[in-house]
Amino acid sequence: MRYSRIAGTGRYLPERVLTNTELEVMVDTSDEWIRARTGIERRHIAAEDQTTLDLAEQAARQAMTAAGVGPADIDFIVVGTTTPDVVFPNLGCLLQERLGVAACPAFALEAACSGFIYALGIADRFVSGGMARCALVVGAETLSRITDWTDRSTCVIFGDGAGAVIVQPADEPGIISAHLAADGRYKDLLYFPYGPSRRRRPEDTETAAIHMRGNEVFKVAVKTLESIVDTTLAANNLERGQIDWLIPHQANIRIIQATARRLDMPMDKVVLTLMDHGNTSAASVPMALDVAVRDGRIKRGDLLLLEAFGGGFTWGSVLLRY
Ligand code: COA
Repeated sequence: MRYSRIAGTGRYLPERVLTNTELEVMVDTSDEWIRARTGIERRHIAAEDQTTLDLAEQAARQAMTAAGVGPADIDFIVVGTTTPDVVFPNLGCLLQERLGVAACPAFALEAACSGFIYALGIADRFVSGGMARCALVVGAETLSRITDWTDRSTCVIFGDGAGAVIVQPADEPGIISAHLAADGRYKDLLYFPYGPSRRRRPEDTETAAIHMRGNEVFKVAVKTLESIVDTTLAANNLERGQIDWLIPHQANIRIIQATARRLDMPMDKVVLTLMDHGNTSAASVPMALDVAVRDGRIKRGDLLLLEAFGGGFTWGSVLLRY
């Protein structure tokens, strides 16, 4: 049987850092409130002339270098994003052109904050099934473009960035299992109200920005993530405490602490980037993975649990041996 493995990781964060203290001037909030309620201290914001594609390209190039592969090797591209440059061509095609990758499947998928987990689950199927030999999997966002900077309940949370991995075939796992799920009944708790088909009309009062009923999202996120980690452990006959590293979606420190408790994991085995990155939606998990790989915490052979939860609601996990 053939498996897939992560051969290299990369990330890119825009240069501009927006601190909590700067936000105090923009909306009625405080550094203390943001830190205590979310864990976030700063986030990166894309420059005026930078798009999600620019961020994705930098992260992809880093992952390719780390894996020792070039554009000629890549034969599958999938990008998780909620903030693509344009409706079409999809961001996968734009990235393919930027990198000079030859004809191959290239697409973007929209699963909000779970976008990278969905993309990785799909890439694993293609690579382990023998339909691709070198997949580029990206999570990239410029959430600052769809944030209402006058709404304190959302603008303190989000940030921009991109993370990427290269997935290649392996004789042993690698990716052990991926679990993807969604429940559209929660569509009204976290959403962006307009799109190409549902255009904003003169009578529409909602801002063209992220809308979130934070407290309700929080409660479902905690419950759902506890259940997805239980499912992942059970599916692989693992006991709590057997995971080496938890790489969670970076939405809120209190949500992450609840998941870690469920796994019996001390917080020093949880990769945390949200203080520096904020919530970067589909980019958060691959960026956190890259941070811990590059600083030497995650080593080859370690057992990793990646998880995410986001608008839809969508959620998912990937268990893998790095
Ligand atoms: N600064 C200061 N006060 C703020 C604030 C801010 N930035 N944002 C909200 N508040 C206020 C609210 O107005 C409310 O005031 P009130 O009690 O006078 O009405 C109070 O803080 C509590 O609001 P609430 O929304 O209940 O806070 P919370 O503890 O739930 O924290 C979030 C808010 C958004 C940080 C939290 O709910 C959260 O992280 N939710 C999940 C986010 C998430 O996971 N999102 C996406 C999944 S990808």
